[in-house]
Amino acid sequence: MSDFRIVVLASGGGTNLQAILDTLHGRGGIEVVGVGSDKPGARALERAAAAAVETAVFPRTDYADRAARDAAMADWIESRGADLVVLAGYMQLLSDGFIGRFRNRVVNIHPALLPSFPGLDAIGQALAAGVHVTGVTVHFVDEGVDTGPPLARRQVPVPAGGDREELEAAIHAVEHELYPQAIRMIAEGRVRIDADDPRVVAIDD
Ligand code: GAR
Repeated sequence: MSDFRIVVLASGGGTNLQAILDTLHGRGGIEVVGVGSDKPGARALERAAAAAVETAVFPRTDYADRAARDAAMADWIESRGADLVVLAGYMQLLSDGFIGRFRNRVVNIHPALLPSFPGLDAIGQALAAGVHVTGVTVHFVDEGVDTGPPLARRQVPVPAGGDREELEAAIHAVEHELYPQAIRMIAEGRVRIDADDPRVVAIDD
């Protein structure tokens, strides 16, 4: 496979970024060529630096508005030659202009079985709803909040008693496996959004 270049955007701890660095970066033609954040102190940036991956920070307050910030971030991502933008705990909404520039080339991981529990604190939402099973979804990003077509999903049982820390740990463990697998499938060219129905994603064996 020829080089497949990934830029990861992350706002927080970056454990999903770490899983991507540990299992994908520099293997099978996949390269993480940049890690961007809205938060100057994000632990994810330290993880990137430790892996000698270029970093960039785009704090909202440095720009006139969100569209200007996203335009600067998109310019940087293009300058890195990215084939795919991977959101890994990036907790900002992306503007329509950004999504338009990377149509069908932005993926996100969400800690619930979408379309259930979109938006913030999906784990808390699942616990409050009292469901017995929640999970993880990897999806393409469109202009809505967690509305883009899913390409991978896995269930996670809610522990009896509904302990939040236990559920978070179980969800993270699944994320760290599922996200690299899904990204690898995209890099291998096995994932196609149906031209007639963009809600439908086909995976080739
Ligand atoms: C992950 O659990 C991810 O699913 C979630 O943020 C966490 C980031 O953890 N993303 C969302 O809720 C997006 N709506 P990490 O920084 O340790 O990878």
